Amino acid sequence: MKSKTLLWALLAGSVMSACATKPVAKEEPTLKSVLGDKFLIGVAVNVWQSSERDTNAVKIVKKHFNSVVAENCMKCQTIHPEENRYDFKQADEFVNFGEKNGMAVMGHCLIWHSQLAPWFCVDKDGKDVSPEVLKQRMKDHITTIVSRYKGRVKGWDVVNEAIMEDGSYRKSKFYQILGEEFIPLAFQYAHEADPDAELYYNDYNMHAEGKRNAVVKLVNDMKAKGLRVDAIGMQGHVGLNYPDLAEFEKSIVAFAGTGAKVMITEWDMSALPEVNRTANIADTVAFRKALNPYPDALPDSVSQRWNARMADFMNLFIKHSDVISRVTAWGVSDGDSWKNGFPVRGRKDYPLLFDREYQPKPFVVDLLKEN
Ligand code: XIL
Repeated sequence: MKSKTLLWALLAGSVMSACATKPVAKEEPTLKSVLGDKFLIGVAVNVWQSSERDTNAVKIVKKHFNSVVAENCMKCQTIHPEENRYDFKQADEFVNFGEKNGMAVMGHCLIWHSQLAPWFCVDKDGKDVSPEVLKQRMKDHITTIVSRYKGRVKGWDVVNEAIMEDGSYRKSKFYQILGEEFIPLAFQYAHEADPDAELYYNDYNMHAEGKRNAVVKLVNDMKAKGLRVDAIGMQGHVGLNYPDLAEFEKSIVAFAGTGAKVMITEWDMSALPEVNRTANIADTVAFRKALNPYPDALPDSVSQRWNARMADFMNLFIKHSDVISRVTAWGVSDGDSWKNGFPVRGRKDYPLLFDREYQPKPFVVDLLKEN
């Protein structure tokens, strides 16, 4: 009797569990679930996000991205404001945030002419320092920062924006004082500080032929000297009418030809008209309005063009995913984007993958649906 009861109980149990075995609900696709086998999918975070105060954005970052880069807090003026003072508070918070969430943490950036602390290249009288002094300062800066995050930051933008569109060197203070040598030196110091860290050269307008050729030469020369260069970062600040996709693709192929990987490091697409820098932008109210045409919302026709072109870029990245190791968006939602203030302040732009309400843009929705 006892065993009969047991048998019934077992049978009833298996019938019930058979009924409960509904097909397992497919997990909601995310950018990292869809793209994760192709390349890292990253995002630049600001300090409100890395400190988790901006909870809406943080939800998106955790859900969709598997890599983060610091939008500002590792730049020289913030992390090393005075010769004998480093301020690691925000950078520590950023690295902890990425690490805690199992993301590949990217460091941006070690040597850059912009957002450079004013003391860096001059003495106390404001005169340029000697080559020896600048080398020593670069070495201290790079060694201190890279060593602090050794083994925690996966890769560094070692030098940012050193080459012009025509292929010439930017006449930055680093170049004026040290000549071309400042770039290989920076890579050498970074490698000495963390031999396991990946090292990148990063720049904008990388579709431009002159810049493309010069960067290929730069990276080949550094590799020939035995220096480590893991990837070439194409920032990817693009617009509705620039660059030509075919030129962008030529650069992906040319950069991969050096043997380094390619990364799209700062992807965004402005939906606004290009600014003619030679025009006097304070001219007339009408002119200002023309520069900021969508203060309320992006018209459907423009949104469609924007989404179609973003999809074209994403498809290009996927096509070259054998050589592209990371695609990183330069900000979480449209409201966060630097493009609202650049190159003209006070505009409303729509450049990122998520809108101001933290909703995915149509091309993102399609990408998630297709996969
Ligand atoms: C931008 C940040 O997004 C802004 O918040 C800041 O005010 C200026 O710098 N190229 C780079 C990035 O390498 O560091 C820049 O980031 C955008 C252009």
